[in-house]
Amino acid sequence: MSTLLLLNGPNLGILGRRQPEVYGTATLADIESAVSAQVADRGWKIASIQRESEGDLIHAIQDNYDSAGAIVNPGALMMYGWSLRDALANYPNPWIEVHLSNVWARESFRHESILSALASGVVVGLGALGYELAAQALLRLVPPSSD
Ligand code: DQA
Repeated sequence: MSTLLLLNGPNLGILGRRQPEVYGTATLADIESAVSAQVADRGWKIASIQRESEGDLIHAIQDNYDSAGAIVNPGALMMYGWSLRDALANYPNPWIEVHLSNVWARESFRHESILSALASGVVVGLGALGYELAAQALLRLVPPSSD
């Protein structure tokens, strides 16, 4: 059975309780359920990993090279996570960067992602729905032969 890596960075484990006016009321468990439902028909299961530190996220990527694809919300590491960037550069399969909030409508320091150029695509500003859309994109981007 193939695995979809669902990787969330710092401060995303408290979704639902974190600035709900910015990030919405869905919890990470809600998002995990929604993404699992999207990929169930393809026979994929998800490996959901949320960590507060960059090193742990890098380990998670290195431990999951055999996943079919990945959804990555790097949180604030989007702006300065150079080691995370290097790890993602070596990730062998398609991955999608997701941000719940519309970072372009927020503070200017959120207007740059050092990761996005490596991603197959980026979904921004659609809340928890963004994860589901990313899962749908990966279902199309990952060839059946990779299952
Ligand atoms: C975020 C946006 C980032 O700027 C912020 O640091 C986060 C969450 C989002 O999902 O909207 O932690 O990645």
